[in-house]
Amino acid sequence: MKFTILIVDDEKNIREGLAADFEMDGYAVRLAENGRDALGQISRGDIDLVITDLRMPGGVSGEDVLRHVTAETPGIPVIVLTGHGSIDAAVQAMHDGAYDFLTKPLNLEQLEMIVKRALEGRELSLKHQQLLSEVSSERGVDSVVGKSAAMQRVMMLVRKVADARISVLITGESGVGKNVVANAIHSLSARHDNALITVHCAALSESLLESELFGHEKGAFTGAESLHKGKFELAHGGTIFLDEIGEISQSVQVKLLRVLQERKFERVGGEQTIEVDVRIIAATNRNLEEEVKAGRFREDLFFRLNGIRIEVPPLRERKDDIPLLMNSFLTKFNKDNNKSIKGFDSRARTAIYKYDWPGNIRELEHCVESSVVMASGDEITVDDLPPTVSRASSSSVMSIPLGITLSEAERIVIEQNLAANKGNKSKTADILGIGRKTLHRKLSEYGLDD
Ligand SMILES: Nc1ncnc2c1ncn2[C@@H]1O[C@H](COP(=O)(O)OP(=O)(O)OP(=O)(O)O)[C@@H](O)[C@H]1O
Ligand SMILES: [Mg+2]
Repeated sequence: MKFTILIVDDEKNIREGLAADFEMDGYAVRLAENGRDALGQISRGDIDLVITDLRMPGGVSGEDVLRHVTAETPGIPVIVLTGHGSIDAAVQAMHDGAYDFLTKPLNLEQLEMIVKRALEGRELSLKHQQLLSEVSSERGVDSVVGKSAAMQRVMMLVRKVADARISVLITGESGVGKNVVANAIHSLSARHDNALITVHCAALSESLLESELFGHEKGAFTGAESLHKGKFELAHGGTIFLDEIGEISQSVQVKLLRVLQERKFERVGGEQTIEVDVRIIAATNRNLEEEVKAGRFREDLFFRLNGIRIEVPPLRERKDDIPLLMNSFLTKFNKDNNKSIKGFDSRARTAIYKYDWPGNIRELEHCVESSVVMASGDEITVDDLPPTVSRASSSSVMSIPLGITLSEAERIVIEQNLAANKGNKSKTADILGIGRKTLHRKLSEYGLDD
């Protein structure tokens, strides 16, 4: 790793003397003759270490540079050079976060040693950071496929909220990837070593709910043979994901509200109040604002949940993501089915792009899975696709001019469908929803037979 050192001093001799010295040691060196110049260079982002004089002409002192670096780019060590005898200034500099200080006249060997040690530390922390980001990219984010602008916006929000404790409400149609987004938030958060506990709210029966969420003490009710920890307790230190939150009944809403407000509860049959540190993520495909207006969802609970809103857009609004998703699912289902299908032929691709995907990514995933199973060649063809999707490719448009009679329009409809089906009469009759006999009669009426 070649490191870049910024030397900040108003004395030309010192600047250039140090520059020559450090260049000889294999470092890249930049020079600044005052504080302002130094801040400009630091802001370009490629400096690894700063050596700065304290007293310099111009408005920006060495102290200012030091404070700027510790506040804005805390990973960069700053070594302070002070005039002889200004020990107070040196102490203050250490207090402000300097890595070390040296008094002038400089002992070059000592300075070199300090620089070397500081940069070893920096190298370690850079490697550590890289490792962390590699791990975190395996952790959940990589599983979110999609490079469309819409998806990038979602992921930008995910990264921003990951480390906060604010509640996140994820909304979007069924199958858009709300669970995937919730996972990504947890994986990117500092809580990722602790549990992500999912509560399927729609499946919660009211009678079981309390003990499910809050646990129960041994003997709390008939059948409670041992102490049972609830989901909130299990999620301590981690995240609780309230999936399908829009489905919960009014009475459950009340119970949830208290724990969301106070992060406190008692186990069923227990006296002791248990406090937990949990991050709350909720998801729903309902419009909760409307549920609130209609009086079906408590407004106070809604506000608790809706700290930050992440709206995951439907697939039809981000069709750019389709190719990436198709390929990623193809790889997955090839593996699951021991196949090695190379891709989709062009008609299959066209059908997939044309289709509207009301079931979103889940529907696309199932489409690829069943196509992989159906395909007999090494490419998926339009015949391998589920009929709902393959129909999208054949749905070409016919135009019927204004001002014609109904029977003229009927003639055009029959004629064009027959042509599209290459003259196959029974198929045409099926598509038009009429019997074959009726079709034959109409064909001869319109003079279309043969
Ligand atoms: N961006 C994505 N990348 C890869 N796979 C995805 C992505 N989004 C969703 N999926 C996959 O699509 C399927 C549906 O996603 P998910 O369960 O997260 O949707 P949902 O919005 O929670 O749906 P529902 O409202 O029905 O609960 C899952 O199998 C998931 O792995
Ligand atoms: Mg879901």
